[in-house]
Amino acid sequence: MENISALLYLVAAVLFILALKGLSSPVSALRGNLYGMIGMVIAVFTTFMIMDKPVLGLIGGAIIAGGAIGAWKAKTVEMTGMPELVAAMHSLVGLSAVLIAVAAVYHTGETHTPVQKVELFIGAFIGAITFTASVIAYGKLSGRFGAKAVTFSGQHLLNLVLAIAMVGFGVVYFTTDSHAAFLAMVAVALVLGVTLIIPIGGADMPVVVSMLNSYSGWAAAGIGFTLNNPVLIIAGACVGASGAILSYIMCKAMNRSIVSVLLGGFGAEAAAGGGAASGPKNYKSGSAEDAAFLMSNADSVIIVPGYGLAVSRAQHALQEFANLLTEKGVNVRYAIHPVAGRMPGHMNVLLAEAEVPYEQVQEMEEINSDFANTDVVLVIGANDVVNPAALKDKASPIYGMPILEAHKARTVIVVKRSMSVGYAGLDNELFYMDKTMMVFGDAKKVVEELVKGVEH
Ligand code: TAP
Repeated sequence: MENISALLYLVAAVLFILALKGLSSPVSALRGNLYGMIGMVIAVFTTFMIMDKPVLGLIGGAIIAGGAIGAWKAKTVEMTGMPELVAAMHSLVGLSAVLIAVAAVYHTGETHTPVQKVELFIGAFIGAITFTASVIAYGKLSGRFGAKAVTFSGQHLLNLVLAIAMVGFGVVYFTTDSHAAFLAMVAVALVLGVTLIIPIGGADMPVVVSMLNSYSGWAAAGIGFTLNNPVLIIAGACVGASGAILSYIMCKAMNRSIVSVLLGGFGAEAAAGGGAASGPKNYKSGSAEDAAFLMSNADSVIIVPGYGLAVSRAQHALQEFANLLTEKGVNVRYAIHPVAGRMPGHMNVLLAEAEVPYEQVQEMEEINSDFANTDVVLVIGANDVVNPAALKDKASPIYGMPILEAHKARTVIVVKRSMSVGYAGLDNELFYMDKTMMVFGDAKKVVEELVKGVEH
């Protein structure tokens, strides 16, 4: 039985790795998901197989209830609500790591080796920090609570004191086996999760969510050692490593260092000062009909989608519009910024949903040098990712962030509802350039008018 379960766990682990590989491209993402699901079924089945006197009713009931809630959430969640859903899910991973560790400590008749105690300690404190930090992250991202960055003097010192206290209780548990010390360690870690996350501003939250994703993976791996469960160790390590890599990629794309994200303040700064324009500035606005005319007479059009496209769910109409332009002989491509929208791959997912051909979708590095030779750029619901301040204005909080160089095109059309700021809370010089025409309105409505404009 032991050999069979080891083999099945190995198969599940390989499927998890294939799932991650599949998710790296929209072409193979569906297959990747399927591998992940099959891997999970095998892992759960194998765990049942090797369990000593499993309480089938209780576990089965929990699986059915959890599965039903998960399926309902997956069906009903808006694409724009994904980051907070992910944060909420991570909180559950953290909580379960804590509960498993506490259950293992309290398990009567079980003594733990020094190595197991360290594993329990690490799994429990990472899990506890992940739990409360993810709950606050959920609140910030959904706008329900804690949206403002909370900073006060002595904040870093407080975190340091809490961290020392947490490790101190861990040492007491290690040396005396005191259950109370273990619980105290968990309690301090729960508080630390809150104090670590409250100073972090809104703009950095997606990076934080990705880091919490990584933490939850390491917590699961730690508990996997305690439970002597290889598939939990492997799956936890995959989640931990991929979350860490993703955080790094996002930080790089936003020109932020992980340390500065963790120390907090960016979102607060932008909202407080960097944002508003210094006085009334002139801009040109036009109708969707004007925009449709310009684009249907162009040789080349690059579409830059952003968060507003996701909000208004305009991707299907946009694809219809792009098809009409292509039929007229216009070379149409989409330019994707790595942090456009609110989660990694957000735009790729939207465009894949609308069945945009993959060859029309190009990443920032591939397409940036083509803007200068492009007739029209259609910026739709995007703002920060085309803000030239990132290239020129050293005082700007986003200075140094790579952007899509839409300002280099011959004509720029910007579709958004107003002149208001994007996620980083900054004004955008692109909107005031002579070559720019603003088309105000909800992205979906405007694109539907663009379609009509091209058809006439
Ligand atoms: P943003 O800079 O947030 O700008 C989106 C624009 O869409 C807004 O200015 C808004 O202007 C417009 N908009 C909103 N709803 C709309 C609607 N229904 N119809 C038309 N327009 C609408 O978006 P972006 O350019 O995609 O940049 C993403 C931002 O998120 C960056 O700052 C990035 O650093 C940050 N971020 C992203 C990620 C990931 S992984 N994607 C991670 C961390 C941070 P109006 O209100 O005037 O309409």
